[in-house]
Amino acid sequence: MLFAAAFTLFTASLVNAQSSSSDTSLGIAAIEAHFSQSGIVPSLLSSFDPSGILNVSYNGVSLTPGQQLTKDQVASAPQITFTPANSTVTTTGTYTLVMADADIVGTDESLGQTRHWLVNGVTVGTGGTGASHIEFLFHFPPYSVSTSGGIPVTQYAGPAPAAGSGPHRYVILLLPQPSSFSPPANLTQPNVGVSVFHLTDYISTSNLGSPVGGFYLTVEEGTATVTPSSTSPVVTSTLQPSKAASSSAPASSGSSTPKTQTPNAALSAQLVSLPLAILASVVGFLVL
Ligand SMILES: *[C@@H]1O[C@H](CO)[C@@H](O)[C@H](O)[C@H]1NC(C)=O
Ligand SMILES: *[C@@H]1O[C@H](CO)[C@@H](O)[C@H](O)[C@H]1NC(C)=O
Ligand SMILES: *[C@@H]1O[C@H](CO)[C@@H](O)[C@H](O)[C@H]1NC(C)=O
Repeated sequence: MLFAAAFTLFTASLVNAQSSSSDTSLGIAAIEAHFSQSGIVPSLLSSFDPSGILNVSYNGVSLTPGQQLTKDQVASAPQITFTPANSTVTTTGTYTLVMADADIVGTDESLGQTRHWLVNGVTVGTGGTGASHIEFLFHFPPYSVSTSGGIPVTQYAGPAPAAGSGPHRYVILLLPQPSSFSPPANLTQPNVGVSVFHLTDYISTSNLGSPVGGFYLTVEEGTATVTPSSTSPVVTSTLQPSKAASSSAPASSGSSTPKTQTPNAALSAQLVSLPLAILASVVGFLVL
């Protein structure tokens, strides 16, 4: 029975791997378009080139980029997963997860952003931590973004924009922490209260890498007495798959053979582990 369960799980993940490569590519293109459309790029971030998708869920319901929510719906911390663009994107090491209030479209971001969540030492999937073999075997995307072993510098504080201040954009970023990571002294200990900081200064002075994933949602309280700059909606049907996850080989003018990656690299990687998965489930069965 355990074998059947393991096999079903494995087959499901294979089917998922086959169909998800282009979905992931489109998902990356979509969040890039949303960041531009909402002015997050370039007013907050000069550029945004993620290597995967952040899936953000509140109370088990996953959001679409920019989705408008009430402050009650975002009162407690979301669950976050990361789906890498392709099998060459690794998720080992530690990350910083941050949520900051970029206020309404058109805001002068040089004035800073309110920090609603800042966790250092976040892990993605079983990366970074000592995973058991069985966990490793079934370690397929989407990977959960875990804050539980990290340092909650600023504990999650749900958005609560001032009434009438318009739809605030809450930006969530997942950034790699290199070995040279060195956050400012006053943002290293747990439980620093919510305050205004300068997100991109924090990223650069701490030596954090570029975001591997990002997301934003909006929360508005009461009726706006301000008018945000206008934006045009992202028409997802017109999006091209992002370059990161597209399978086409880069054009090469040189004589060297371009290094290409088969589109089904993720699938092949999983096929290799099929015998292992079967072995593990047989062993599991015998143990029971
Ligand atoms: C995989 O994704 C990474 C990160 O976006 C990208 O740099 C790389 O070119 C991609 N590789 C392939 C084969 O598409
Ligand atoms: C996002 O996560 C939720 C909850 O974990 C899941 O139901 C949903 O299918 C995921 N969506 C994507 C696009 O991965
Ligand atoms: C940390 O120190 C910087 C520079 O002195 C200051 O601007 C900032 O307000 C401080 N942040 C906190 C959360 O205390």
